[in-house]
Amino acid sequence: MRMVDIITKKRDGESLSEEEIRWFVNAYSDGDVPDYQASAFAMAIYFQGMSQAEAAALTYAMAESGDQLNLSAIEGVKVDKHSTGGVGDKTTLILGPLVAALDIPVAKMSGRGLGHTGGTIDKLEAFEGFRTEIDEDEFVQLVNTNKMALAGQSGNLTPADKKLYALRDVTATVNSIPLIASSVMSKKIASGSDAIVLDVKTGSGAFMENIEEAKQLAEAMVEIGNSLDRKTMALISNMDQPLGKFVGNALEVKEAIETLQGNGPDDLHELSIALASHMAVLGGKASNEAEGRRLVEKVMSDGTALEKMKLFIKGQGGNPEAVDHPAMLANANHIVSVTFEHSGYVSGMDAAQIGKAAMMLGAGRATKDDDIDHAVGLELVKKIGDYVKKGEPIAVLHANQHDTEHVVEMVMNAYSFSEEKVEKPTLIFDTIN
Ligand code: URA
Repeated sequence: MRMVDIITKKRDGESLSEEEIRWFVNAYSDGDVPDYQASAFAMAIYFQGMSQAEAAALTYAMAESGDQLNLSAIEGVKVDKHSTGGVGDKTTLILGPLVAALDIPVAKMSGRGLGHTGGTIDKLEAFEGFRTEIDEDEFVQLVNTNKMALAGQSGNLTPADKKLYALRDVTATVNSIPLIASSVMSKKIASGSDAIVLDVKTGSGAFMENIEEAKQLAEAMVEIGNSLDRKTMALISNMDQPLGKFVGNALEVKEAIETLQGNGPDDLHELSIALASHMAVLGGKASNEAEGRRLVEKVMSDGTALEKMKLFIKGQGGNPEAVDHPAMLANANHIVSVTFEHSGYVSGMDAAQIGKAAMMLGAGRATKDDDIDHAVGLELVKKIGDYVKKGEPIAVLHANQHDTEHVVEMVMNAYSFSEEKVEKPTLIFDTIN
């Protein structure tokens, strides 16, 4: 096979066979196809798209390009969840224990945060001693014992995707629905779960800024998952403002604990329950979402899920007492209020800008080798639809640095206001099965 023929076919809008796609993935991974040909191919896909069968073939070939987790020694239907990334999204910390409390095994691989979005591993490392570098045997044993474990992604998971994604990043070809869908799903398939619930975000803090594109991406991922024998569904959720009221690692853990205790903010509570209910359905414990919701709400209100969280934290070396006493988690030295000098309704929030402000305080990384400070971050006292009286705080910085003026300004600029009453935004736009 010759790469130039594969590029020509795609450029001219023809369909590629599974064999041709697999040949490209292998040859590119092995270094036999140079970056300039892979770039031309990615650009041809960007303009011509891919059929569902082509995207599934690309997904599968990339999933097989490196290590694949074998979870067959874990009893039960393993259900994974994936979010396309957002600001303040700590749902994994909440729905993991909720689903595990229903005896559905949660065997999750997660990543670290980069740029304006956070990562679950960074949040969990707010528990002193918490380990995420665990080998496959221990991982399987932890899930069988506690019903929940969470590990960092193995360095050799989907290397073909890693190489292609880095190339797309510098060739203006990231924003292609079949390429994003196959990239995300290849990692999910290699992570070994039987079923996948996707949370596809749309809005100012998300990859997909409008609902239509988010739906197309969700449909592409759901089709790929189902065609590769993983029961897959997606929710389309709003990321026009951060989720919950806190952004920053220990602050988000504290908010997740409060939510598991039934005292979380409405949007975070609702999205966590909705995602967990769908996981209960795919995990075979409920026949529909309403039944899933009843089960999930019960393990939240009777404390079973909170107990699961303690077991999970302890199992991976963290101190479970911090779940009962969250003040034991890192706290910042300075509290700085951001106040609004007029009265009015919050009409908009630039979620990406808020994420960047938290990063400037040290809560996130600008480059992948940066250290993070678990204690710092932001409390968003006011969110879209809330009324602010002149001089009231709209947000509070938790900082370990004295010089916070530039961050205060960033947060202020991320908010917009209106004199007219503003409705609270819709949280979940659609469900894709
Ligand atoms: N995240 C991924 O993992 N892959 C993409 O292509 C885009 C976002």
